[in-house]
Amino acid sequence: MKFFIDTADVGEIRSWNETGLIDGVTTNPSLILKSGRDINEALAEICDIVAGPVSGEVTALDTAGMISQGKTLAKIASNICIKLPLTLDGLKACKALTGEGFKTNVTLCFSANQALLAAKAGATFVSPFIGRLDDINIDGMELIEEIRAIFDNYDFKTEILAASLRTANHVKDCAISGADVATIPPSTLEKLVAHPLTDKGLAAFLADWEKTGQSIG
Ligand code: E4P
Repeated sequence: MKFFIDTADVGEIRSWNETGLIDGVTTNPSLILKSGRDINEALAEICDIVAGPVSGEVTALDTAGMISQGKTLAKIASNICIKLPLTLDGLKACKALTGEGFKTNVTLCFSANQALLAAKAGATFVSPFIGRLDDINIDGMELIEEIRAIFDNYDFKTEILAASLRTANHVKDCAISGADVATIPPSTLEKLVAHPLTDKGLAAFLADWEKTGQSIG
């Protein structure tokens, strides 16, 4: 499973990219607002840091406007992935843009049928939002399983980009359910690393090592 980082915070992206574990980045208008940055400048910087796909989201609601904004965003760098909402206009824009060779991420997906439409429109990625479904007591992970089954039935190449992941368990369950990509906020990435038994075990090993009086190298 690929790991994308779900933030427009360039400092966080730079720091996590140093781990070598980050395969791409997702942003959205709310994350751009949170970053306090100009979208063009932030995306250009992010695309310089991370070689993989960097999603930048259009804000137009009509197909022509989405295509125009998408092409403008794609001029920023060759690894820009145009993020489009899962509406009829968004699907039409997706079909047109993928037909012209652009990478696309159809976002705000909340049902298997929506994902099927995104795949038929040729999306590079479709983004089911797990946390927001959990917020309304719908099992987001079931959605990932349904989409996985549908895409495998028909050999769709669209990648399932699990989004709105809020917990370490979300990430684990996405991997079990066969998501191709998990986009993870920095705070959740930190939670994936930490385990109290790792800290406790390391402290015990180091204490015993001290007692041996040895050194390596
Ligand atoms: C990523 O593409 C999404 O925009 C993001 O994961 C949404 O997360 P949220 O539901 O926590 O805002």
